[in-house]
Amino acid sequence: MEIVASVKDLQNLLSEKRNSGEEIGFVPTMGALHEGHTSLIDTSVRERKTTVVSIFVNPLQFSAEEDLDDYPLSSEKDKEICANHKVDLLFCPTQKEIYPEGSPELEEIGEIGKILEGKSRPSHFQGVATVVARLFEIVGDAHVYFGEKDFQQVMVVNDLVKRRRFPVEIVACPTIRQIDGLALSSRNVYLTEDQRADAPVLYRALNMGAELIADGEKSSENLKKLISDIVRNESKGDLDYVDVVDSETFAPVNLLSDSGKKIRILIACKFGSARLIDNIGVVIP
Ligand code: PAF
Repeated sequence: MEIVASVKDLQNLLSEKRNSGEEIGFVPTMGALHEGHTSLIDTSVRERKTTVVSIFVNPLQFSAEEDLDDYPLSSEKDKEICANHKVDLLFCPTQKEIYPEGSPELEEIGEIGKILEGKSRPSHFQGVATVVARLFEIVGDAHVYFGEKDFQQVMVVNDLVKRRRFPVEIVACPTIRQIDGLALSSRNVYLTEDQRADAPVLYRALNMGAELIADGEKSSENLKKLISDIVRNESKGDLDYVDVVDSETFAPVNLLSDSGKKIRILIACKFGSARLIDNIGVVIP
C-alpha cells in the first residue's frame, strides 16, 4: 500500500494505474475506520483493480456545536486496517491540500439535502458536498463506495454527481450491523453502557414499522407514531425525527398505497451526546 499526502502524488499514481487499464474504486472516509468502512473497502477491492481510500476529517461538515474536536481519530490503526484490507493507495491529505484557498465556496445542494438531517444539521450537507466534489475532482473517473447507513448522504451525493456531471458511479452498499442490530457508526464510541443497551431500539422499531407496512398499513402518520412510541417506551433516547421518503426521489411519502413503490423509513435519535441515525428500505405490498 502506498500512502500519499499530496494531490499531485495521488494523481500521478492514478494516471499510471489508468494507463495500464486499471479501473479505480474509491472509498472516501473521515478515518476512525470500523467494519462499516471495511465492508466498503472489501467490495471495492473485489470489484476494481485499484482501490483508493481517503482519510480526511472535513471541518466544513461539522457545525460549531458539533463534535469535530472530539471526533475519534485513529490514524495509525486506520493505516493498519487499510493495509490489511488490501487498499492500494491511501490518501491522507492536509487541510491545505484539500482547501488550498482557505475557506472554499460551499457547494450548492438541492432540496434533498434540506430536509431531515439537512434541517437538524444546517450546512452539514453543503460541507459534505463541498469536500466530496473536491475529492471527485482530485480522483477523477472512479466507482465510489458509500454506505447506506447514511442514506440521505448517498442521495445528496447522487444529486451532486448528476448536477456537476462528475465521471463517477456511486455504489451504495448495505449497512453493517452488530449482532443486536445497532448500525455501525464512528459515533457509537460515545455511548455509555446503558445507552449502548438502548440504541438497538432504532433498528427494532424500524423493523416493526416494516412489518406494519407488510400487514397493510397505509398511513405514514400511523407508521411514524408506532416507531416513535417504541423508541420512547423502550429507551431513554431523545428522538429527533422519524420520516418516510420515496427511495428514488427522497420526496416525503404520506400514503403507503402505491403497490411496488420503494420507500425508506429514516430515524435520528440522541442517546446522551451520541446522535445516531438509521434507516430501512421497504417495498409497499
Ligand atoms: O461519510 C463520511 O464519512 C463523510 O461524510 C465523507 C463522505 C467521507 C465526506 O467527508
